[in-house]
Amino acid sequence: MDKLIINGGIPLNGEVVISGAKNSVLPIMAATIITPGKYRLNNVPKLRDTSTMMRMLEIVGAKVNFSNNIMDIDTSTCDKPIAPYELVKTMRASFYMLGPFLSRFNYAEVSLPGGCAWGPRPVDYHLNAMEILGAEIELSDGMMILKGKLDGAVINFTQKSVGATGNTLMAAVKANGTTIINNAAQEPDIETLCIFLNKMGANITGLGTSTLTIKGTTQLKADIEYDIIPDRIEAGTFLIAGAITSGNVQVTKVNPEHLSIVIDSLIKAGYELDIMNDSILVRTNKKSILPVNITTATYPGFPTDLQAQWMALMMRAKGNSIITEEIYCDRFTHIAELSRFGAHIELKNNKAYVQGNDVLKGAPVMSTDIRASASLILAALSAEGRSSISRIYHIDRGYEKIERKFANLNADIIRIKD
Ligand code: UD1
Repeated sequence: MDKLIINGGIPLNGEVVISGAKNSVLPIMAATIITPGKYRLNNVPKLRDTSTMMRMLEIVGAKVNFSNNIMDIDTSTCDKPIAPYELVKTMRASFYMLGPFLSRFNYAEVSLPGGCAWGPRPVDYHLNAMEILGAEIELSDGMMILKGKLDGAVINFTQKSVGATGNTLMAAVKANGTTIINNAAQEPDIETLCIFLNKMGANITGLGTSTLTIKGTTQLKADIEYDIIPDRIEAGTFLIAGAITSGNVQVTKVNPEHLSIVIDSLIKAGYELDIMNDSILVRTNKKSILPVNITTATYPGFPTDLQAQWMALMMRAKGNSIITEEIYCDRFTHIAELSRFGAHIELKNNKAYVQGNDVLKGAPVMSTDIRASASLILAALSAEGRSSISRIYHIDRGYEKIERKFANLNADIIRIKD
């Protein structure tokens, strides 16, 4: 297993090009199943999760070719609408196959994802929505089996869910009649999925709002080329890296609109930011970092996927801060590892009380999930001395060429085999 070795305390400086968004490309790859034919996706990040999704498509019968961040998918020969446990357990996004399978085959066999390192991550909204659209559902050997031709319906989500909104959209595009999704997720990943589906000929309106209207049509087509949007979470991680190391880091090929809350939070913490069309520069002018409380929320609120990284920054703040997790209340596995750098963090229910501390010391630590790993890298980059981060296969799921990108910013970071 690989490890990262970091000698911290060096300010990061320079420019980093942000990759395509993991959370956008995965549902779009699944959506190519809906209509047989050829698709080209540009700006696809080379990640473990995109490889897993490739494997998923191949199991269904698609042909996939991926090089130089361009992915060509041919779904003409797909004939096996099954998402097996081996894949769904390693990557929950495989559950995105549910909607496309039903759309194309009126049949889906998808494994239940099971638990996650930070507690239960239910899929009841997905299944209820499919049932309201007319699918019959049964559970057999841990597999959800859904059957039936779908009819448009009104779906009211009690809570905004990125996954359930995406799955419902993909199921409804070919349903008979109109579907309305109330309380839909408004994340850029959902908006871009709607744009992709509309390019296929779907009729979705209300893009970017919490009410999506889908007029079902059977006239969908393939032969589409599509550019994956920049990864706002990767961009946010690198901005925080610049901030935590008192450096000057410019993230390029980004959409600053997608990062408004992160930009505001960094300004509140005392940083200067230059925001251009497709890049953001974070500059450190002051010595001390101001404490800033954050509460995770659905878009455009503070992303749960940047909560751990923000905690790392707040460990260096001059003063105490409170980090509240509202999406997944138990998503705090990073606290125990961050404490090894000398952080003082107390957890009460879904609130982490972070005691600001000017000095962090390098330490051996272990990754527990994608974003937790990112927070450990940030803490290690700012800590005095040497750190080693093990189990970094988690980080390879969601960050492309991470050590190379950090090394280009002047970080002392290498990957070694254990
Ligand atoms: C969530 C994040 C997403 C992030 C991902 C991985 C939000 C809104 N979503 O997506 O940005 O990339 O984690 O870190 O921030 N829920 C149910 N039943 C369901 C589906 C969801 O109760 O069937 C609940 C979840 O428990 C959660 C909330 O709804 O509290 C939002 O869930 P959802 O957006 O679907 O989660 P993910 O797709 O995992």
